[in-house]
Amino acid sequence: MSDVPDVLLNNGVAIPQLGFGVFQIKPADTAAAVAAALQVGYRHIDTAQMYGNEKEVGQALRESGLARSEVFITSKLNNGFHAYDDALSAFDQSLIDLGLERIDLFLIHWPLPKVGDFVETWRALQTVYADGRARAIGVSNFQAHHLRRLHAETEVVPAVNQIEVHPYLTQEPLIAFNTEHQIATEAWSPLAKGSVLDDPTVVQVAKAHDRSPAQVVLRWHLQRGNIVFPKSVTPARMAENFKIFDFELSPAEIGMISALNRDERTGPDPDAFN
Ligand SMILES: NC(=O)c1ccc[n+]([C@@H]2O[C@H](COP(=O)([O-])OP(=O)(O)OC[C@H]3O[C@@H](n4cnc5c(N)ncnc54)[C@H](OP(=O)(O)O)[C@@H]3O)[C@@H](O)[C@H]2O)c1
Repeated sequence: MSDVPDVLLNNGVAIPQLGFGVFQIKPADTAAAVAAALQVGYRHIDTAQMYGNEKEVGQALRESGLARSEVFITSKLNNGFHAYDDALSAFDQSLIDLGLERIDLFLIHWPLPKVGDFVETWRALQTVYADGRARAIGVSNFQAHHLRRLHAETEVVPAVNQIEVHPYLTQEPLIAFNTEHQIATEAWSPLAKGSVLDDPTVVQVAKAHDRSPAQVVLRWHLQRGNIVFPKSVTPARMAENFKIFDFELSPAEIGMISALNRDERTGPDPDAFN
Protein backbone atom coordinates (compact mmCIF):
# COMPACT_ATOMS: atom_id res chain seq x y z
CA MET A 1 0.00 0.00 0.00
CA SER A 2 2.96 2.30 0.49
CA ASP A 3 5.71 3.62 -1.75
CA VAL A 4 8.09 4.03 1.18
CA PRO A 5 11.26 2.01 0.53
CA ASP A 6 12.93 0.04 3.30
CA VAL A 7 16.53 0.50 4.34
CA LEU A 8 18.22 -2.75 5.37
CA LEU A 9 20.09 -2.32 8.63
CA ASN A 10 23.45 -4.05 9.20
CA ASN A 11 21.72 -7.04 10.87
CA GLY A 12 19.20 -7.51 8.03
CA VAL A 13 16.26 -5.81 9.78
CA ALA A 14 14.24 -3.58 7.40
CA ILE A 15 13.26 -0.05 8.45
CA PRO A 16 10.97 2.22 6.40
CA GLN A 17 13.09 5.14 5.15
CA LEU A 18 10.32 7.63 5.99
CA GLY A 19 8.71 7.67 9.42
CA PHE A 20 6.88 9.99 11.79
CA GLY A 21 8.58 11.72 14.75
CA VAL A 22 6.72 12.62 17.93
CA PHE A 23 9.21 14.92 19.73
CA GLN A 24 7.39 17.86 21.39
CA ILE A 25 3.95 16.41 20.73
CA LYS A 26 2.16 16.71 24.07
CA PRO A 27 1.04 13.38 25.55
CA ALA A 28 -2.59 14.51 25.28
CA ASP A 29 -2.17 15.10 21.53
CA THR A 30 0.04 12.12 20.70
CA ALA A 31 -2.51 9.34 20.21
CA ALA A 32 -4.49 11.47 17.75
CA ALA A 33 -1.33 12.57 15.89
CA VAL A 34 -0.02 9.01 15.58
CA ALA A 35 -3.46 7.75 14.53
CA ALA A 36 -3.57 10.41 11.80
CA ALA A 37 -0.04 9.52 10.67
CA LEU A 38 -0.89 5.80 10.48
CA GLN A 39 -4.01 6.75 8.52
CA VAL A 40 -1.85 8.66 6.01
CA GLY A 41 0.31 5.55 5.62
CA TYR A 42 3.33 6.05 7.92
CA ARG A 43 4.54 2.71 9.28
CA HIS A 44 7.53 3.89 11.33
CA ILE A 45 7.21 5.93 14.54
CA ASP A 46 10.17 7.56 16.31
CA THR A 47 9.63 8.24 20.02
CA ALA A 48 11.83 8.39 23.15
CA GLN A 49 11.53 8.03 26.90
CA MET A 50 12.44 11.72 27.11
CA TYR A 51 9.40 12.73 25.02
CA GLY A 52 7.01 11.41 27.69
CA ASN A 53 4.58 10.03 25.11
CA GLU A 54 5.45 6.33 24.69
CA LYS A 55 2.15 5.25 26.33
CA GLU A 56 0.15 7.27 23.82
CA VAL A 57 2.20 5.93 20.89
CA GLY A 58 1.39 2.40 22.10
CA GLN A 59 -2.27 3.29 22.52
CA ALA A 60 -2.51 4.62 18.95
CA LEU A 61 -0.79 1.51 17.63
CA ARG A 62 -3.25 -0.80 19.42
CA GLU A 63 -6.29 1.26 18.40
CA SER A 64 -5.17 1.33 14.74
CA GLY A 65 -5.94 -2.36 14.35
CA LEU A 66 -2.69 -2.76 12.38
CA ALA A 67 -0.67 -5.92 12.95
CA ARG A 68 2.31 -5.34 15.22
CA SER A 69 4.65 -6.46 12.43
CA GLU A 70 3.36 -3.71 10.14
CA VAL A 71 4.67 -0.78 12.20
CA PHE A 72 8.33 -0.15 13.05
CA ILE A 73 8.74 1.42 16.51
CA THR A 74 11.88 3.17 17.75
CA SER A 75 12.47 4.47 21.27
CA LYS A 76 15.49 5.84 23.09
CA LEU A 77 17.04 5.47 26.52
CA ASN A 78 16.72 8.61 28.62
CA ASN A 79 19.73 10.42 30.01
CA GLY A 80 20.26 9.52 33.66
CA PHE A 81 19.83 5.79 33.03
CA HIS A 82 23.25 5.03 31.58
CA ALA A 83 24.42 2.65 34.33
CA TYR A 84 24.03 -0.99 33.18
CA ASP A 85 21.20 -2.00 35.55
CA ASP A 86 19.42 1.34 35.17
CA ALA A 87 19.48 0.97 31.39
CA LEU A 88 17.96 -2.53 31.62
CA SER A 89 15.17 -1.31 33.96
CA ALA A 90 14.48 1.73 31.79
CA PHE A 91 14.27 -0.53 28.73
CA ASP A 92 11.73 -2.74 30.57
CA GLN A 93 9.70 0.38 31.38
CA SER A 94 9.66 1.40 27.70
CA LEU A 95 8.19 -1.98 26.76
CA ILE A 96 5.56 -1.61 29.50
CA ASP A 97 4.69 1.96 28.45
CA LEU A 98 4.52 1.11 24.77
CA GLY A 99 2.62 -2.10 25.55
CA LEU A 100 5.01 -4.14 23.44
CA GLU A 101 6.79 -7.45 23.94
CA ARG A 102 9.67 -6.26 21.85
CA ILE A 103 10.79 -3.09 20.17
CA ASP A 104 12.14 -2.73 16.66
CA LEU A 105 14.96 -0.31 17.45
CA PHE A 106 16.28 1.01 20.76
CA LEU A 107 18.88 3.79 20.93
CA ILE A 108 21.14 5.48 23.48
CA HIS A 109 19.71 9.00 23.16
CA TRP A 110 22.88 11.02 23.93
CA PRO A 111 26.48 9.94 24.54
CA LEU A 112 26.88 12.27 27.58
CA PRO A 113 30.67 12.27 27.16
CA LYS A 114 31.40 13.95 30.49
CA VAL A 115 29.40 11.31 32.37
CA GLY A 116 31.55 8.95 30.35
CA ASP A 117 29.74 5.64 30.76
CA PHE A 118 28.18 5.06 27.35
CA VAL A 119 30.25 1.89 26.77
CA GLU A 120 28.59 0.32 29.83
CA THR A 121 25.23 1.58 28.54
CA TRP A 122 25.90 -0.05 25.19
CA ARG A 123 26.56 -3.37 26.94
CA ALA A 124 23.02 -3.15 28.40
CA LEU A 125 21.63 -2.58 24.91
CA GLN A 126 23.64 -5.58 23.68
CA THR A 127 21.89 -7.64 26.39
CA VAL A 128 18.36 -6.72 25.27
CA TYR A 129 19.42 -7.31 21.67
CA ALA A 130 20.86 -10.74 22.52
CA ASP A 131 17.67 -11.79 24.32
CA GLY A 132 15.57 -10.71 21.33
CA ARG A 133 13.59 -7.94 23.01
CA ALA A 134 15.11 -5.34 20.68
CA ARG A 135 15.29 -6.34 17.02
CA ALA A 136 18.03 -3.78 16.47
CA ILE A 137 20.04 -1.39 18.67
CA GLY A 138 21.75 1.85 17.87
CA VAL A 139 22.88 5.23 19.11
CA SER A 140 21.91 8.85 18.72
CA ASN A 141 24.03 11.98 18.69
CA PHE A 142 27.27 9.98 18.62
CA GLN A 143 30.33 11.61 17.05
CA ALA A 144 32.97 9.53 15.26
CA HIS A 145 35.17 9.39 18.36
CA HIS A 146 32.30 7.95 20.46
CA LEU A 147 31.66 5.33 17.77
CA ARG A 148 35.35 4.44 17.63
CA ARG A 149 35.26 3.65 21.36
CA LEU A 150 32.26 1.35 20.94
CA HIS A 151 34.00 -0.31 18.03
CA ALA A 152 37.17 -0.91 20.07
CA GLU A 153 35.52 -2.02 23.33
CA THR A 154 32.25 -3.80 22.42
CA GLU A 155 30.99 -6.50 20.07
CA VAL A 156 27.84 -5.24 18.29
CA VAL A 157 28.14 -2.45 15.70
CA PRO A 158 25.25 0.04 16.14
CA ALA A 159 22.60 -0.42 13.45
CA VAL A 160 21.96 3.33 13.26
CA ASN A 161 23.33 6.66 14.39
CA GLN A 162 20.49 9.19 14.70
CA ILE A 163 21.99 12.67 14.31
CA GLU A 164 20.85 16.19 13.50
CA VAL A 165 20.97 16.62 9.71
CA HIS A 166 19.32 19.16 7.41
CA PRO A 167 20.46 21.57 4.67
CA TYR A 168 22.05 23.92 7.22
CA LEU A 169 23.93 21.02 8.90
CA THR A 170 24.76 18.46 6.25
CA GLN A 171 27.17 16.42 8.42
CA GLU A 172 29.10 14.98 5.46
CA PRO A 173 32.14 13.70 7.45
CA LEU A 174 30.04 11.96 10.13
CA ILE A 175 27.69 10.43 7.56
CA ALA A 176 30.73 9.14 5.63
CA PHE A 177 32.05 7.60 8.87
CA ASN A 178 28.65 5.97 9.56
CA THR A 179 28.50 4.58 6.04
CA GLU A 180 32.06 3.26 6.17
CA HIS A 181 31.13 1.31 9.31
CA GLN A 182 27.76 0.00 8.00
CA ILE A 183 25.85 2.26 10.38
CA ALA A 184 22.68 3.73 8.82
CA THR A 185 22.20 7.48 9.27
CA GLU A 186 18.91 8.72 10.67
CA ALA A 187 18.44 12.48 10.24
CA TRP A 188 16.67 14.19 13.12
CA SER A 189 15.02 17.59 12.68
CA PRO A 190 15.14 16.91 8.92
CA LEU A 191 13.38 20.24 8.25
CA ALA A 192 15.59 22.08 10.78
CA LYS A 193 12.34 22.43 12.76
CA GLY A 194 10.87 24.37 9.82
CA SER A 195 13.64 26.97 9.58
CA VAL A 196 14.89 25.88 6.12
CA LEU A 197 11.47 26.05 4.52
CA ASP A 198 11.71 29.71 3.49
CA ASP A 199 15.28 29.49 2.29
CA PRO A 200 15.37 31.06 -1.22
CA THR A 201 17.28 28.12 -2.76
CA VAL A 202 14.85 25.59 -1.30
CA VAL A 203 11.90 27.70 -2.46
CA GLN A 204 13.41 27.97 -5.96
CA VAL A 205 13.88 24.19 -6.29
CA ALA A 206 10.37 23.62 -4.90
CA LYS A 207 8.87 25.96 -7.53
CA ALA A 208 10.74 24.17 -10.30
CA HIS A 209 9.04 20.89 -9.28
CA ASP A 210 5.69 22.40 -8.30
CA ARG A 211 6.24 20.95 -4.82
CA SER A 212 6.39 22.40 -1.34
CA PRO A 213 9.72 23.33 0.30
CA ALA A 214 9.20 20.54 2.89
CA GLN A 215 8.74 17.95 0.14
CA VAL A 216 11.93 19.09 -1.58
CA VAL A 217 13.99 18.99 1.64
CA LEU A 218 12.68 15.53 2.52
CA ARG A 219 13.41 14.35 -1.02
CA TRP A 220 16.98 15.69 -0.66
CA HIS A 221 17.37 13.53 2.46
CA LEU A 222 15.99 10.42 0.75
CA GLN A 223 18.26 10.79 -2.27
CA ARG A 224 21.25 11.16 0.06
CA GLY A 225 20.24 7.87 1.73
CA ASN A 226 19.12 9.27 5.09
CA ILE A 227 16.27 7.79 7.12
CA VAL A 228 13.88 10.62 8.14
CA PHE A 229 10.86 11.12 10.41
CA PRO A 230 9.50 14.67 10.12
CA LYS A 231 7.20 15.74 12.94
CA SER A 232 3.89 17.51 12.39
CA VAL A 233 0.69 17.77 14.36
CA THR A 234 -1.08 18.95 11.20
CA PRO A 235 -2.68 16.08 9.20
CA ALA A 236 -2.42 18.00 5.90
CA ARG A 237 1.34 18.40 6.47
CA MET A 238 1.68 14.73 7.43
CA ALA A 239 0.13 13.87 4.06
CA GLU A 240 2.30 16.42 2.22
CA ASN A 241 5.47 15.04 3.84
CA PHE A 242 4.45 11.51 2.82
CA LYS A 243 4.03 12.39 -0.87
CA ILE A 244 7.69 12.45 -1.86
CA PHE A 245 8.11 9.28 -3.87
CA ASP A 246 6.79 10.50 -7.22
CA PHE A 247 9.44 13.04 -8.18
CA GLU A 248 13.22 13.27 -8.21
CA LEU A 249 15.77 16.03 -7.70
CA SER A 250 18.61 16.33 -10.21
CA PRO A 251 22.22 15.95 -9.02
CA ALA A 252 22.61 19.71 -9.55
CA GLU A 253 19.61 20.43 -7.30
CA ILE A 254 20.94 18.06 -4.63
CA GLY A 255 24.23 19.97 -4.86
CA MET A 256 22.51 23.37 -4.55
CA ILE A 257 20.72 22.28 -1.38
CA SER A 258 23.83 20.62 0.09
CA ALA A 259 25.73 23.87 -0.53
CA LEU A 260 23.45 25.60 2.00
CA ASN A 261 25.45 23.92 4.77
CA ARG A 262 26.67 26.32 7.44
CA ASP A 263 27.26 23.79 10.24
CA GLU A 264 24.36 25.32 12.16
CA ARG A 265 22.67 23.22 14.84
CA THR A 266 19.10 23.65 16.06
CA GLY A 267 19.89 21.40 19.05
CA PRO A 268 22.74 20.79 21.49
CA ASP A 269 26.30 19.93 20.51
CA PRO A 270 26.75 16.23 21.46
CA ASP A 271 30.26 16.91 22.76
CA ALA A 272 29.01 19.55 25.20
CA PHE A 273 25.61 18.12 26.20
CA ASN A 274 25.55 16.22 29.50
N1 LIG B 1 17.67 11.98 18.69
C1 LIG B 1 17.50 13.24 19.01
O1 LIG B 1 18.24 13.79 19.84
C2 LIG B 1 16.38 14.00 18.37
C3 LIG B 1 16.30 15.40 18.55
C4 LIG B 1 15.25 16.08 17.91
C5 LIG B 1 14.34 15.38 17.12
N2 LIG B 1 14.43 14.02 16.99
C6 LIG B 1 13.47 13.25 16.17
O2 LIG B 1 13.30 13.87 14.90
C7 LIG B 1 11.91 14.15 14.70
C8 LIG B 1 11.73 15.37 13.82
O3 LIG B 1 12.46 16.49 14.35
P1 LIG B 1 11.78 17.83 14.90
O4 LIG B 1 10.43 17.50 15.37
O5 LIG B 1 12.72 18.44 15.85
O6 LIG B 1 11.78 18.80 13.66
P2 LIG B 1 11.34 18.75 12.10
O7 LIG B 1 10.66 17.49 11.76
O8 LIG B 1 12.56 19.16 11.32
O9 LIG B 1 10.34 19.98 12.04
C9 LIG B 1 9.11 19.98 12.70
C10 LIG B 1 8.49 21.36 12.53
O10 LIG B 1 8.23 21.60 11.15
C11 LIG B 1 6.84 21.85 10.97
N3 LIG B 1 6.44 21.16 9.73
C12 LIG B 1 6.39 19.82 9.52
N4 LIG B 1 6.00 19.56 8.26
C13 LIG B 1 5.81 20.76 7.65
C14 LIG B 1 5.40 21.13 6.35
N5 LIG B 1 5.10 20.25 5.41
N6 LIG B 1 5.30 22.48 6.08
C15 LIG B 1 5.59 23.40 7.02
N7 LIG B 1 6.00 23.10 8.26
C16 LIG B 1 6.10 21.79 8.58
C17 LIG B 1 6.12 21.30 12.19
O11 LIG B 1 4.96 22.06 12.47
P3 LIG B 1 3.53 21.45 12.98
O12 LIG B 1 3.80 20.30 13.88
O13 LIG B 1 2.93 22.63 13.69
O14 LIG B 1 2.75 21.05 11.76
C18 LIG B 1 7.18 21.52 13.27
O15 LIG B 1 7.13 22.84 13.74
C19 LIG B 1 11.39 14.33 16.13
O16 LIG B 1 9.98 14.29 16.20
C20 LIG B 1 12.08 13.19 16.82
O17 LIG B 1 11.44 11.97 16.52
C21 LIG B 1 15.43 13.33 17.61
